Amino acid sequence: MAGLADIVACESSICSIENSELRYRGYSIDDLAQNATFEEIIYLLWYGRLPNRLELKALKQDLAENAVLPKKIYELLHLYAPWGNAMAKLRTCLSFLTHFDDEVMDHSFAADHRKAVRIMARIAAIVAAIDRIRKGLEPIELKTIRPTSLAEMFLWLLTGEKPAPIAAKALDTCFVLHAEHELNASTFAARVTVSTMSDIYSGIVSAIGTLKGPLHGNANEQVARMLEEIGELSRVEEYIAQKIANGERIMGFGHRVYKNGDPRAKYLQALSGELAEWRDDRRWYELSLKIEKLVYEQKGLKPNVDFYSASVYTYLEIPRDLFTLMFAISRTSGWLAHILEQHENNRIIRPRAEYSGKTEVKWKGISER
Ligand code: CMC
Repeated sequence: MAGLADIVACESSICSIENSELRYRGYSIDDLAQNATFEEIIYLLWYGRLPNRLELKALKQDLAENAVLPKKIYELLHLYAPWGNAMAKLRTCLSFLTHFDDEVMDHSFAADHRKAVRIMARIAAIVAAIDRIRKGLEPIELKTIRPTSLAEMFLWLLTGEKPAPIAAKALDTCFVLHAEHELNASTFAARVTVSTMSDIYSGIVSAIGTLKGPLHGNANEQVARMLEEIGELSRVEEYIAQKIANGERIMGFGHRVYKNGDPRAKYLQALSGELAEWRDDRRWYELSLKIEKLVYEQKGLKPNVDFYSASVYTYLEIPRDLFTLMFAISRTSGWLAHILEQHENNRIIRPRAEYSGKTEVKWKGISER
């Protein structure tokens, strides 16, 4: 089956998608999008249930204490500050972090969970450092700020200023919506990697490399490029018609699993509208609405999670080439949940291929070829 479509490759109790209904550990995404914080989602994904107040406080404290980066990461980022793809930098940094963790090859349940906290805590700080160092700015020291959530911490580390509550809340909701999505390509890559009993960091590096592609996590950046290229409402019709006539893909539309709409898209659309009002700039939101209408009318395709993320992140003034890294920060929680689950009951993932090449070919010496 091309692209392993509809093939069940493992059993998991983390996330289900049945009849287009998305659930994390049995909780509907509708419930979670409207009520949960990202830290509650992290706990839910890793431990299988919602935390009580004390457990949530302990997790937040653990994340805050572990978010400090080894100084060498900053040195590494200075080495190639002015050039390079931001996702590739994130991939390199995650790989580099391996060398600062004494428990890398300890696959016990307790050590795996400690490493999960360290990775989750640091990834947002790394993304902020990537941006500041390439702009010639000093990274913000964690001890100088007092954020109340990972989302707030990220925006604060990125800009050096305490974010407005509406911005921190919007990013937190994005993180809730992107946290987990069953056996998507990057999660599968992470599971395959750690099924060899390789380390957690290698699993996350594989996942980041997989998320980087435009058919997966990078679609949000491509949507932002499209919005900018179109620029104004009067150009949408011509642009979309041209794309369709050329048989090109319209980024942020279509989905392998949801053929009748992605249940996360409406929450991102609402966020985009809310942030448009807050910024007093409806351009990106209105362009998105018009594109959605035309693509549905002309191709029958509905937006996926990446489509409205693009205008949301634009309104949050996050640099465009960091959009996929936003996805990575959030999805790290899901990747880690799957890695922990894989290690709990591991069997190496080693499928078969159906051979379609030549058979029974006879060896020819080099002078006969
Ligand atoms: N624009 C135009 N046509 C499309 C699109 C699109 N975005 N998506 C699907 N189609 C068409 C496709 O051309 C094909 O038509 P036909 O049968 O006539 O050849 C049909 O719909 C089925 O598409 P497919 O490629 O077989 O579907 P798939 O399940 O293999 O791919 C997808 C799913 C998400 C890769 C694809 O819809 C796509 O390329 N979308 C654009 C990229 C994108 O937004 N990716 C983000 C996905 S959601 C979050 C994530 O995973 O990161």
